[in-house]
Parts: sequence; structure tokens; C-alpha cells
Amino acid sequence: MGRVVLFFLLISFAMTLPSLGIAEEILEDPAKAWERGYQLWLYISVVIWLTVMIPLIWFSFKYKRKKPTRDVDGEYIKGNAGLEILWTAIPTIIVIVLAVQTWTVFDKLRRVPEDAYTVKVEGYQFGFDMNYPEEGTDDKGDSIIKTTNELIVPQGPVRVMLTSRDVIHSFYVPHFKTKEDMIPGRWTYIYMLAKDPGTYPVYCAEYCGASHSLMLAKVIVKPKEDFKQWASSKTKAAAMQTPEQRGAELIKACLGCHNVTGEPGGIGPSLKGIVGHQTEFEDGTSAVVDEAYLKESIVNPNAKIVKGYPAAMPPYASMPESDINAIISYLKTLK
Ligand code: CUA
Repeated sequence: MGRVVLFFLLISFAMTLPSLGIAEEILEDPAKAWERGYQLWLYISVVIWLTVMIPLIWFSFKYKRKKPTRDVDGEYIKGNAGLEILWTAIPTIIVIVLAVQTWTVFDKLRRVPEDAYTVKVEGYQFGFDMNYPEEGTDDKGDSIIKTTNELIVPQGPVRVMLTSRDVIHSFYVPHFKTKEDMIPGRWTYIYMLAKDPGTYPVYCAEYCGASHSLMLAKVIVKPKEDFKQWASSKTKAAAMQTPEQRGAELIKACLGCHNVTGEPGGIGPSLKGIVGHQTEFEDGTSAVVDEAYLKESIVNPNAKIVKGYPAAMPPYASMPESDINAIISYLKTLK
């Protein structure tokens, strides 16, 4: 009898399922929908917690062992069909509601609208390279516009393609309630609905080495017109960029560990005024910093370790020759 009741209870409940998702206007913004989902989980958890804790505390006072004379066995209870149905049906319904609700939001978040603006982000130890293939690519397929640690996007839906050059990183944008691993050799993606212009922090959410905590970036949302202007001026500037200017842009990737201001105390040595000067190494030898040495220090940094610093730098063996030369040109300007 009890099973039949339970069966019909579940069937009638299942028929109401389609209306359990989230209202379409909330679902339009996955960040909002996740927030709604979080609230639902929170309320249900609090109710369950109170349902357990209040009787627990109440009973522990009511049935406290007072005198040994009260040490007698209680009444023998065989079972209670009504109660058993209730405590099977209610949790089942709760789990189904949460599952349907969460799936609805998750499904929305994985479907990027067709008209979304696409950007490509490459993680590395320790920063993010932002590429804008929709603004044009060169003959090697590389984006003409690139930025470091600042992702500029137009207002509206944005598809962010993610990958990594070295180890696993994770692209985490709390404001858009989204996070996805960046995996070497594979492209993953996230969907952000960039509704309001503004600046939103990005974190690396996967421990990836000594400067993981410095692996920070920003999403900057611009109104569509402003974005267009920014993109066209960047495209023009890229065409006229000197190697020194390109190097100054690329060097931002190194500033997690190095600096260009000459201050002591970084994970790696300061890069200011090193070109043409003598440097001492851990093994007691020394050399003058020239182009060959700088190139080796980028491609194979552990070949020579500067005295007083750890061998902490990852090799950038896959960095294009032109980028290495641009960085060296820039370093020469740091007197
Ligand atoms: Cu990259 Cu942590």
C-alpha cells in the first residue's frame, strides 16, 4: 500500500517537473541563474540542518540520563510505514528539484549564443595572453591584436576559448560565476554574459607553481562602440609597433617574478640595467649580459643561475624568435 502511494506521489511530482527550471528572464544571465541556484541550495540546506539540529538539542535535554533507576528498555517499535514513506518521498523530491534546477543552469552556461564575441586566452607560468582572432590574423594564424593580463571585450555575450602553454591553469572570473581549466594541448571554453561595462578581476584557480598567486588578470567590458575604436587603434598600432614597444608589451608576462625598476627582493633578479654588465652565477663563474646570454636565459633559464636566486624559472623554449628579439630590444632600453 505504502509503495503504491509513494509511486503515485512521485509520478504526479514528475509531471510538474518542466515548470521547475528557472524563469527564462533569470536564465538569460547564467551568473544570475547560478546565484538563484545557490540561494535555493542554501535555503534547503538550512531547513534540513534545523530539522535535524533542533530535535537533537531538544531530545538531548529531554532524555538526559538522570537517575540509574530510570535505566529500563524503552518500548519496542517495529516500524512506521507512513513515516518511512515520508522520509523517502521528501528527500527524493528535494534531490529532483535541485538536479533539474542545477542542470537547467549548467546547460545554459555550456551553450554559447551564436552571435557571441570570441576571444582566445592562453595561460602560462605566470600570466594570460589574450588573443582577438575576430579582429584579424596574420599569415601564421596568430591574432594581430594581443594583450597581456587584460581581456578587453565588447558588451554582450562572450565566448572565451582557453588553453595553456605549459601546465594546467584555471581561468576564474568570480563576477561571471564561471571557471574552467586551461589544459595544454586542448581547447576548453566558457561563456560570459558581459552585461555592464566595467573591470572584473580574473584569478588563476589551479596551483601552478611558485608565482601562482601573482597570476592575476582583468576582464574589461567596453560598450560596443568603444570596443570597436579600441580594436581599430590597436590594429593600427600593431602595424607600426617597434620591437622595443612589442618587447615592453611582452615583458608584462615576466613581471610576476622579475621587475624593471631595479628593486631587490623578487623571485627572479631585476631586469633593469643588466645589459652590458657583469653578472655573477651560483657556480662562482660570471659573464657579461649580452644577447646570447639573454636568449639562453629565456629558452633554457637553468643553464646559468644568477647568484642569490633560486632555479625557479620555467623554460620558454617555444617562444617565437621575433618575440625573444623584441624582449631583448626592450631590455636594452632599460638603462
Ligand atoms: Cu596558473 Cu595558478
